[in-house]
Amino acid sequence: MIAVAILAAGRGTRMKSTLPKVVHPLGGRTLVERALDSVESLNPSRRLVIVGYGADRVKAALQHRTDVEFIEQTEQLGTGHAAQQVIPALQNFEGDLLILNGDVPLLRPETLAQLLETHRQQQNAATILTAQLPVPKGYGRVFCDAQNYLQAIIEDRDCNEAQRQNHRINAGVYCFRWSALKGVLPNLSAENDQKEYYLTDAVNFLSPVMAVDVRDHQEISGINDRKQLAEAYQMLQARIKDDWMARGVTLIDPASITIDDTVAIGSDVIIEPQTHLRGNTTIGSDCRIGPGSMVENGIIGDRVSILFSVIRDSTVAADTTIGPYAHLRGQAAVGCDCRIGNFVELKNTRLGDRSNVTHLSYLGDTTTGTQVNIGAGTITANYDGVNKHKTVIGDRTKTGSNSVLVAPLTIGADVNIAAGSTVTENVGDDALVIARARQVVKPGWRLKSKE
Ligand code: UD1
Ligand code: CA
Repeated sequence: MIAVAILAAGRGTRMKSTLPKVVHPLGGRTLVERALDSVESLNPSRRLVIVGYGADRVKAALQHRTDVEFIEQTEQLGTGHAAQQVIPALQNFEGDLLILNGDVPLLRPETLAQLLETHRQQQNAATILTAQLPVPKGYGRVFCDAQNYLQAIIEDRDCNEAQRQNHRINAGVYCFRWSALKGVLPNLSAENDQKEYYLTDAVNFLSPVMAVDVRDHQEISGINDRKQLAEAYQMLQARIKDDWMARGVTLIDPASITIDDTVAIGSDVIIEPQTHLRGNTTIGSDCRIGPGSMVENGIIGDRVSILFSVIRDSTVAADTTIGPYAHLRGQAAVGCDCRIGNFVELKNTRLGDRSNVTHLSYLGDTTTGTQVNIGAGTITANYDGVNKHKTVIGDRTKTGSNSVLVAPLTIGADVNIAAGSTVTENVGDDALVIARARQVVKPGWRLKSKE
């Protein structure tokens, strides 16, 4: 059995923020969510999150996680004090307790699995994750014998000059035999430079304790200030982009591209500069995305091209061309083999296959059939100032340039709407609609009026 406790009660003073540190977002997910997600593959039977400073904000950030138990640490007297708060909740728990700092968001699941494996194989009282850092400043230093058995962890500020030269640091990731930790937690004292109860002291009380070095020290980067938050984002991006390139995606100018780790991309996709893929986005194969595009929560089919456009919460089927300068939002759904853009906005609109909306249009709350042609400047007037109304357009219908379709409105199949029409009444199938004033020409009018 394994239980997980995430220490997330600290304020994070160095962030200079009114938000608690662990709810700052990093690539679409908060730090505390990332910490929680990194332990998922270990299948923990309990997930405890220690909250204190800004507890309501932290709980709100995790409200979708019904499997989390929150434990209040009303005063933040240190990481050891935070760990003490779990004792009542784990009174009858038997097994191992993995404790993570809530501000270490880049851990790989494999790293945690390896830590747990060593812990169990060696039957340690505790096993801690360590790293050899080029710049160890600020971290607790870890002293071990040649077999990696721990001798001591000493906080940076409690180290003497010689101890500070040690580059092996405490990552803030610990695997404890719970029965052993439970025994020593009540014995912590706050006799140190910060006058805090240190979890690292509990580790110092236990034996045997082993340290396991992480292979890639970037993984254990802790976030204490905005600069480290930005650096962590860069590391995360490098990891994600390297991974997609290894899997057959071309990134042109990777430094200008950002991709959330929740995105899925098919093979032979080309991502052009200044393109951002976010949230629950899926890109099919053989697509060309960008330059200058953002897709957030978008489902994009195969062979789609998207040029200088924004797609949010919408889907685009195969072989469709988007842009330049299109905006799809609010559950827009574009069929296959369509052309959308230049300067076209689709909101909550379903467009049938082989349809075109190619210039200067707004379609909102609209459903169209297949092979529809929406002429340049066509607008659905879907809002009467109070409510939104729907427009329905049948197969093969063509709207003339600059037509206004005043919703609620249903237009049948094979209808032609004359340019400049303002259509306010429903139209059946197979009709020509002219809804505009007739042109009046008065020859010689200027001359006459001058006389
Ligand atoms: C801690 C470790 C240090 C390690 C580093 C790794 C201790 C004493 N030191 O230092 O050895 O190198 O992490 O990143 O543990 N928290 C609470 N309640 C509290 C205090 C803190 O929940 O009363 C939480 C914070 O929200 C944070 C985590 O514990 O998520 C770590 O606290 P922080 O103050 O950042 O510890 P460090 O000084 O970084
Ligand atoms: Ca920290």
